[in-house]
Amino acid sequence: MTVRIEFDGAPVAGRDGQTIAGLLIGAGHRSWRTAAGAERGVFCGIGICQDCLVTVNGVEGVRACQRTANDGDVVARESR
Ligand code: FES
Repeated sequence: MTVRIEFDGAPVAGRDGQTIAGLLIGAGHRSWRTAAGAERGVFCGIGICQDCLVTVNGVEGVRACQRTANDGDVVARESR
């Protein structure tokens, strides 16, 4: 089944069961957060480093590598 989310205002599609990070990587994104002027995306992939933080449906600080993407999620990059 296809899952469709919005990332920074653009539609992104992936497969049911993928994490937000997996879905974004599958769509060609390599980073989705800026920290101290550097681009960040997945580093550890196991929920420890917090490099992958995004805002999901208005909730800040969600670990994209741990959160399963749900149809209709609105995901925004973070900068901090
Ligand atoms: S990539 Fe390290 S917490 Fe998600």
